[in-house]
Amino acid sequence: MKKADYPYVTVSYAQSLDGRIATSEGDSQWIGGPESLRLAHELRRDHDGILVGVGTVLRDDPLLTCRIPDGRNPIRIILDSTLRTPVSSRILSTTDQSPVWLLHGSSASPERREILAGTGCRFFELNSGEGQGVDRILSLLKKNGVKSLFVEGGGATITSFLTARAVDCLTVITAPLLIGKGIEAVGELGIRVLAKAMRPLRFKRWTLGNDEVTQLFFTERTLT
Ligand SMILES: NC(=O)c1ccc[n+]([C@@H]2O[C@H](COP(=O)([O-])OP(=O)(O)OC[C@H]3O[C@@H](n4cnc5c(N)ncnc54)[C@H](OP(=O)(O)O)[C@@H]3O)[C@@H](O)[C@H]2O)c1
Repeated sequence: MKKADYPYVTVSYAQSLDGRIATSEGDSQWIGGPESLRLAHELRRDHDGILVGVGTVLRDDPLLTCRIPDGRNPIRIILDSTLRTPVSSRILSTTDQSPVWLLHGSSASPERREILAGTGCRFFELNSGEGQGVDRILSLLKKNGVKSLFVEGGGATITSFLTARAVDCLTVITAPLLIGKGIEAVGELGIRVLAKAMRPLRFKRWTLGNDEVTQLFFTERTLT
């Protein structure tokens, strides 16, 4: 599969100086300052779709809408193999504001799917043989009109996109605080020697309020 068959992928998260996106209890609101939160909403506005893992939905109950003036809501996409997203979640209670797509595995129960269908969300089944493979997810999204995708977390989801080398732009917001043991932004990438480390083609870095933003570009593609 060529990159052209995938959406443009931006991954972004707010981390502590010691690389955590949440405490060990999963508390992540808020690591970055208000200026960084605005950047996150701008990224939502600028992409066709926003994607998170079901772990983030269960922990944070996010809306994933764009809440800046004249902002456009992206399609909200959840990686949820067994359809654990609660019917009462804020995201499924607001399908009239912007579409919600659930990407699930073939083992998800039809009963569960029927219950969730009442909320107005859309389902996409990923064959269990292929798992929730990132390549498969991206080609499915592109075929369904998603030309740009913002991956907002959590750690497992970010790690799977980086492992698949599927990221065009990584925007990391680093806040001046320490969390210690907690949820790491990036887990195992299978890199054993530094020669294989993920180095960008180019990068930008700037200060935003009290935070520092580092943007790594891994491809020549641009967000259109
Ligand atoms: N600081 C930030 O910017 C930020 C942003 C977002 C989230 N967070 C924090 O991150 C924490 C949640 O992170 P997390 O790592 O526990 O969970 P996560 O990445 O949000 O969700 C992981 C779950 O997604 C499902 N999944 C399906 N396909 C997947 C794939 N290809 N790759 C990865 N996951 C896939 C899996 O559940 P199934 O097998 O059941 O499908 C997996 O357990 C929360 O505490 C939240 O507050 C922080």
